[in-house]
Amino acid sequence: MQTIDNDNLRRDVEAVAEKYGRKRASLMPLLQTLQAKYGYISGPAMQTAAEVLDIRPVEVYDTVSFYSFFRTEKSARYTIRLCQTISCDMKNKQRIARQLENELGVKFGQATPDGAFALEYANCLGMCDQGPAMLVNDRMYVKVTPEKVAEIVSECRSHFGAYKPGLYDFEPNLREGGPLLSGASAPNAGLRVALAKPRVDVINAVRQSGLRGRGGAGFPTATKWQLAAAAKGEQKFVVCNADEGEPGTFKDRLLLLDFTDPMFEGMTIAGYAIGATKGIVYLRGEYAFLRERLEDVLAKRRKAGLLGKGVLGKAGFEFDIEIRMGAGAYVCGEETALIESLEGKRGEPRNRPPFPVNTGLDGCPTSVNNVETFVACAMILDKGADWFKKQGTEKSTGTKLFSVSGDCATPGVYEFPMGITVAELLRAVGGENAKAVQVGGASGVCVPASQFARQIAFEDAAPGGSIIVFGPKRDMLHVAENFMGFFAEESCGQCVPCRIGCAKLLEGVRMLQRGECSMAHLNELKGLSQTMKIASKCGLGQTASNAFMSIVNHFGDEVFGRQAE
Ligand code: FES
Repeated sequence: MQTIDNDNLRRDVEAVAEKYGRKRASLMPLLQTLQAKYGYISGPAMQTAAEVLDIRPVEVYDTVSFYSFFRTEKSARYTIRLCQTISCDMKNKQRIARQLENELGVKFGQATPDGAFALEYANCLGMCDQGPAMLVNDRMYVKVTPEKVAEIVSECRSHFGAYKPGLYDFEPNLREGGPLLSGASAPNAGLRVALAKPRVDVINAVRQSGLRGRGGAGFPTATKWQLAAAAKGEQKFVVCNADEGEPGTFKDRLLLLDFTDPMFEGMTIAGYAIGATKGIVYLRGEYAFLRERLEDVLAKRRKAGLLGKGVLGKAGFEFDIEIRMGAGAYVCGEETALIESLEGKRGEPRNRPPFPVNTGLDGCPTSVNNVETFVACAMILDKGADWFKKQGTEKSTGTKLFSVSGDCATPGVYEFPMGITVAELLRAVGGENAKAVQVGGASGVCVPASQFARQIAFEDAAPGGSIIVFGPKRDMLHVAENFMGFFAEESCGQCVPCRIGCAKLLEGVRMLQRGECSMAHLNELKGLSQTMKIASKCGLGQTASNAFMSIVNHFGDEVFGRQAE
């Protein structure tokens, strides 16, 4: 971490502006550069950024203050962020927290007097199968034990000044592949097939496969591409949403690491299909350690003629891909919030319509798709729509990747056909004695044992990709508290139903925990949940009460009449 010198500061800001352009859209990479170099973004840094990018200082502050990875005051050399979300919580994160406090002599939310360490809680880091997880600056530590805490602290101390970010010791953890992950496809075979077809036929191939977006919402991919292709605009964008922040989700981590080429291949196919020249991967800040690998693969693809002018010799088709980083905001997984972030603004969802396919990044037609969706598209173009449709159900075709964590024998990434029942899935992961399963992450539904025959598919329990298994001894009200705490922190605060609703539901769960909630008050909270569903502006608020409602409805014996804790 360097001390701030005004000449150096201006040079740093100018260098980023030179690379990304003198516009507000360069603000995120600029702030990330300053944060990494100086450890915080000072008043003079914000002023300089505003001058160089030709925007108002208040706009810079507006963005800085939104993201949890940015600091406006000098922070410690090592910021330790311990995951507090449910899968890590179930792996005794509390013991790790205590040990960290014991080793460093400060509490969470504080820094050591020598400025070396700061302790913070973070929300899901995407390592739920290997928890408890924590970040030390950019470096990810998994399966942390109280014994390991002292080792990590002394490692930081002994490497002061020579710390090299980007190291990691986690496993990709693929437990079971299916046609998508284990099916052999020659490198870039899908892209070759696509480029030999007219654009419209590429979209038709995806339509015939029935592929629906793998990020959670399940919108038909071909429809999105069709709309973006038909929209008027000289410049169009393909954006890869690599911001998986849903608690319990880490399947894209595996794809980003081990299926990098097929992901870029799928993006290039999308670029061709909709007529875009530029692709952007929006990578979650927590996955910063993956950036180097992604940049390496991109460089190789450029060298091999798979990106750039005349991709694979196709006259008139130019396409390249850039990596942009998030900065610790769950709501940026929502596509319009993600676009706002790419434009250098707070990650606040937009009103829709207009939709991004018409008015997206910089007002241009933009198709935002999930990492897994792009990998599936590359395979579909190579192997055909019928190959894809052989698996799954009529309304949810193909296979799906699941991130499995919690109380089961073999957590990790699995590929299963859509329509698998919860019971079948539990057998495969060694979680047969579960009393409940959270399907689709914190925003999904909590399925009790009596409903384990339910299918995981868009027509039943929607398959966001996160599966969290709760064993017979789990306290479901504690689970509800963890989820509502997550949403209360991650709500962008823009709309009242979500901002107030999340806080009220969290308060309600705590009343239930203390045995102080009347039935009349609980009914009010249920009504509030309904209002949040209808009146919230984006998916966060619309789904935030799902887990609360399903836990209250299915686990009445645990919820009512508790003794104060
Ligand atoms: Fe901790 Fe996901 S990494 S819950």
